[in-house]
Amino acid sequence: MSSNKIRASITGVHGYVPNYILSNSELEKLVDTSDEWIVTRTGIKERRILKGDMKGTSIIGTKCVEGLLEKTGTSANDIDLIICATVTPDMFFPSTANLIANNVGANNSYGFDLSAACSGFLYALATGSQFIESGAHKKVIVIGADKMSSIIDYTERKNCVLFGDGGGAVLLEPSKDNTGIQDYILKSDGSGGDMLCLKAGGSLRPASIKTIENKEHYIYQEGSSVFKFAVTNMANVSEEIMLKNNLTSNDISYLVPHQANKRIIDATANRMGVGPEKVLLNIEKYGNTTAGTIPLCFWDFEKKFKKGDNLVLAAFGGGFTWGSLYLKWSYNTK
Ligand code: UT7
Repeated sequence: MSSNKIRASITGVHGYVPNYILSNSELEKLVDTSDEWIVTRTGIKERRILKGDMKGTSIIGTKCVEGLLEKTGTSANDIDLIICATVTPDMFFPSTANLIANNVGANNSYGFDLSAACSGFLYALATGSQFIESGAHKKVIVIGADKMSSIIDYTERKNCVLFGDGGGAVLLEPSKDNTGIQDYILKSDGSGGDMLCLKAGGSLRPASIKTIENKEHYIYQEGSSVFKFAVTNMANVSEEIMLKNNLTSNDISYLVPHQANKRIIDATANRMGVGPEKVLLNIEKYGNTTAGTIPLCFWDFEKKFKKGDNLVLAAFGGGFTWGSLYLKWSYNTK
């Protein structure tokens, strides 16, 4: 079916994870935890860590974009806009998107970072799609990348088992064959902000000896409370986008969920009525890479997708932020 509406199609994906593998057994040596606890509570077996000094999230984003440009045969000079979703920018400013643009030679582009924690990639994809649908731009790159190890306390078991480093990037271009982004629902509720946050380092609590002593530059999460909100809201919003677009579970080719906890993903899939064969999972390999999880899933499972496949993306994270996005895949991979 064709229509005159310009839609934003994903025309290429590329991901990057650092080489270093932090396994559950290595974590057992650092903190009081066990492979059994981690796997049964979360589904995570290992995660990747970007080791070395002076290496920020822009390194992950740069590798993603370099690979994406090569794979899609795109010249860096043709990129109009780069949006980088991240909560671990290299610095508050300049934006990580600007650093990545400079690294890849995207000299005709502008860019900005977008902060929506684990929903960051969804928010950025919806944002990027507006510039394509309006006709303002022809080539937009959307990146989701985080170096979570930079805000993790590896002496405290609660969070260090959950998170990893990595990211992915997609190229958005206009399509007139009705493939591409069809619809999205984005939500936020700042009353949940205190339950999952980075307490210090911003204008409220600038870095000081006290904030360092209090370990306030590490991620803070009330895990079981966040879990309850995540399970309910990710399932609700995924059901909502199906109803809004008259999609039955049979219509859905794949659920591409944020990878925070396999139990949250299972609850979402159950509510949508989709079987495990349609649920894309890579949490066991990478853990929670925050804005990186969904584009990393695209990267890992790209070969499975066929043109016209209906994908539902869903995420929940700090803010609180959450949402779902419905897209029709735009190409077949050889
Ligand atoms: O991606 C952004 C949004 N974030 C999320 O979606 C994360 C949502 N939350 C979760 O996924 C889960 O709450 C966690 C995986 C973080 C924790 O699982 P849980 O089943 O909610 O465990 P809990 O926090 O209720 O803790 C249960 C027990 C506690 O011990 P007691 O009090 O029962 O004796 C914890 O101290 O497990 C203990 N525990 C651990 N034990 C071994 C907590 N962390 C660990 C650990 N290893 N790493």
